[in-house]
Amino acid sequence: MKSSGGTLLHLLQQVDEDHDAPAYLRLYRQVRGAILSGGLPGGSRLPSSRTLARELSVSRNTVEAALGQLRAEGLLARRVGSGSFVAEAFPDAPRRPDRRWRPDPPAMARAAGGLSARGRLLMAAERPTDTVAGMIFGASAGAVSAIPLEPWRRMVARHARRSTPALMLPGAPAGLRALREAIAAHAATTRGVRCGWEQVVVVASTGHAIALAAQLLLDPGDRVWMEEPGYPAARAAFTAAGAIPVPVRVDAEGLDVSAGRLAAPDGRLAYVTPSHQYPLGHTLSLDRRVALLAWAREAGAWVLEDDYDSEFRYAGRPLAAMQGIDGEGRVLYVGTFNKVMFHALRTAYLILPPDLVEPFARARTLSDGFVPLLTQAALAEFLADGHFALLLRRLREIYRERRDCFVAAATAEWGAELRLGPLEAGLHATLEAPGTENDRAASDAALACGISVPALSRYYAASPGRRALLVHFANALPADIPFAVDALARVLRGTPPRG
Ligand SMILES: Cc1ncc(COP(=O)(O)O)c(C=O)c1O
Repeated sequence: MKSSGGTLLHLLQQVDEDHDAPAYLRLYRQVRGAILSGGLPGGSRLPSSRTLARELSVSRNTVEAALGQLRAEGLLARRVGSGSFVAEAFPDAPRRPDRRWRPDPPAMARAAGGLSARGRLLMAAERPTDTVAGMIFGASAGAVSAIPLEPWRRMVARHARRSTPALMLPGAPAGLRALREAIAAHAATTRGVRCGWEQVVVVASTGHAIALAAQLLLDPGDRVWMEEPGYPAARAAFTAAGAIPVPVRVDAEGLDVSAGRLAAPDGRLAYVTPSHQYPLGHTLSLDRRVALLAWAREAGAWVLEDDYDSEFRYAGRPLAAMQGIDGEGRVLYVGTFNKVMFHALRTAYLILPPDLVEPFARARTLSDGFVPLLTQAALAEFLADGHFALLLRRLREIYRERRDCFVAAATAEWGAELRLGPLEAGLHATLEAPGTENDRAASDAALACGISVPALSRYYAASPGRRALLVHFANALPADIPFAVDALARVLRGTPPRG
């Protein structure tokens, strides 16, 4: 058994203290930092709260409050009679930001000689941001471990124990029937999608769905309507297929269909995020939805509806999916579990017009065959038994709290100078405040301080773009948000953050 007494005290003494925060919060942040940075490995035993209190000259209540919060997040476990231990394996084992893949321009230049013209285009495509794992507002380990995923873990464990031959042999390319049925039922009740289970094809991710659609429906040189600003991964997937993304402006009603008609009347496909435009956050109005479907009908084009985070609406009623009002079979609907549950799940789905199911199922046998069956079987049960619906309700509360904390902290910081993007739905918002006029420089400076807030202007392909920062408020714990906002404000003012 590893004991961490000396290591922990050493680590805690090394960390600068932020004297403005309450003592329990400072201790909590220090221990959490030591765990997430790998300084305290899984399985380490912590000294007793009495010892910690004595050594650190704080009260035992302070120690208990800090450790209690870490236990609630699943980072510490208590064993009766033996004290607290660092969790052996939390699902999102800490990854240091510097271990993440980053573009390496010289290596890319060397490789470029061997790449196809399309490959070179793909490498040249700006891939701004994503959120950075392990950073505040990035895909933070701590934020994910606060998500109530226990029923999911139990379900995976049960299926892993049972693992019947059926889960070990090659699976159907369109997915396990039980999962396809559960997805069809879920999409019908929550999103007004009209489909039979046979129309569902399980894929690894939204990106995978887009790549398949591009392979099967687009010829090189075909034009694709892309929201401007829009989702860089979608733009890159179309580019990789040799298609030409045509930027179509977005306003407060979402994609401007008349601008699309002018820019590319002959478009073969329109990629849209109607329930929560990515990244601006607007909802595509009903008039625009009808207009887009009318254009698709006239032009014989497809509409790819990316419904990536529609589960998270905090106010008002969501508009049903466009798929549900499409009478002509022009809409391909994409939903994902990666955003709702966790990024590494790698399970998403397409709901297709019936004639497209067979080609998509066959095309995907050429890429990765099928999504791992263990995940599919566990997910089918997770949905069918109502755990997913329950998780969604709890997540909505968790993210609403994080959103409210973020709005309160940002308002306290910038007051009347603050402009936040739509906040009724989703997991992120745009932020404009003094210092965001040069959003790229601000984003780079924030990144250097461990804060992942991508620059909005990087999501534009053609126009110079609006300047703002994207804040993924859902990826930060309420206790951390005021400190993160304070640190961001210092970055924007050009004064270095404390500690
Ligand atoms: C617009 C959009 N679509 C889809 C996704 C989820 O993608 P995936 O299923 O590929 O993880 C994201 C994630 O951030 C997104 O921003």
